[in-house]
Amino acid sequence: MNKLAGIDIGNDSIKLVLDGSKEPLVIPNIIAPGYERHILQEEDSPWKALDVTIYSPSLTQRNQRYFVGQLALEHEDNMELEDSDNKAVSDQSLIVALTALAYQGLMSYASGAAHGNTDEVEYVLGTGLPVRTYAKFHHQFEQRLVGEHEVTFHSTPQLRNRKIKVTIRKVAVSIEGAAAIFHLATHDSLLVRDEEIYNGCIGVCEIGALTTDFPVIQRMAIDNHFSHGEQIGIATYLDAIIRDIEDAYGYVFQSRAKLVQRIKNRQFTIQLIGEGQVDIRAVVDQHFRRAAARMIEMIRKRWRKYPDIQCFYVIGGGASALKPYIQDAAGALRLRFAEESEFLNMYGYLKVAKSRMSQTANV
Ligand SMILES: Nc1ncnc2c1ncn2[C@@H]1O[C@H](COP(=O)(O)OP(=O)(O)OP(=O)(O)O)[C@@H](O)[C@H]1O
Ligand SMILES: [Mg+2]
Repeated sequence: MNKLAGIDIGNDSIKLVLDGSKEPLVIPNIIAPGYERHILQEEDSPWKALDVTIYSPSLTQRNQRYFVGQLALEHEDNMELEDSDNKAVSDQSLIVALTALAYQGLMSYASGAAHGNTDEVEYVLGTGLPVRTYAKFHHQFEQRLVGEHEVTFHSTPQLRNRKIKVTIRKVAVSIEGAAAIFHLATHDSLLVRDEEIYNGCIGVCEIGALTTDFPVIQRMAIDNHFSHGEQIGIATYLDAIIRDIEDAYGYVFQSRAKLVQRIKNRQFTIQLIGEGQVDIRAVVDQHFRRAAARMIEMIRKRWRKYPDIQCFYVIGGGASALKPYIQDAAGALRLRFAEESEFLNMYGYLKVAKSRMSQTANV
């Protein structure tokens, strides 16, 4: 049976939700070359040790082994995406996405459903691309996902040596930020939840890791002329923070994700070799203030270009990070924020997939 799912293939993390489940799966979009590892103590969750070999006709290198997500985070050879990477054609993003789909497929079966040695899971997916890449790449993106792929788990606890065939039957590709608004406007049943958003003219500033999208949505349709995307995200500022801290204190964050973990937990004190400690709060504040000023400047520009916009939503993981700074910098400009900012697209993609299956939405 097909599983319906929404998957947000983010430059920072892949977020996946299956229809009917309330628990999204989040895997950092980070991989490292895999090998037989020495395990001193097994991880307490399979999610922490995704060690896989992937076969996919869409990948340039087939049957390669990778450490994915959390397991790659600590790795010196790990790869995070750069701003020149295009997620529509990125092998890394596909590797993490297929791992997420295989993992969630196995977890949702728990037991049974195995055919011989191979488990199978079939999906119908909703997903999305940034405003700037959508028109040119959405066909290619869809083609890369659709088809049969295979994921084998190695040292992953509970999933040792499990092989799973991941078949993607159909993919509905929509636009980052726009799908989020569709989610805010509708119930799970797809009935209208918020008339103002559903029938209005809504501006969006969706701050991701590497891109910020400014779709304009009018009566749930994307405005071709005024929608816009910028090749800048919060990662630009996180990288600057990492560089400044290294220059000032010789302390190196192994990845952006490590810095974000600390910012989220509000742990601003770092330990230096030789027992010293320093507070990095001021460095973070300085760059986030700069980021917020830039975002406000871009929002003002968009709104001026298109004064019909009734309200502006600031969303995405970057909005969670920058909210207090943006509010500070906004002055009299009224902006809207939403709960669970980084998951809105994912929920929206699931709804778009649902509604395309029943042929109603045009988002
Ligand atoms: N509360 C928070 N504090 C600090 N940083 C955060 C917070 N929440 C999310 N982030 C960071 O914000 C960035 C953007 O997150 P988001 O999940 O929207 O990116 P993405 O969708 O993976 O990227 P993109 O949209 O560019 O593909 C990430 O670097 C993430 O780690
Ligand atoms: Mg995103």
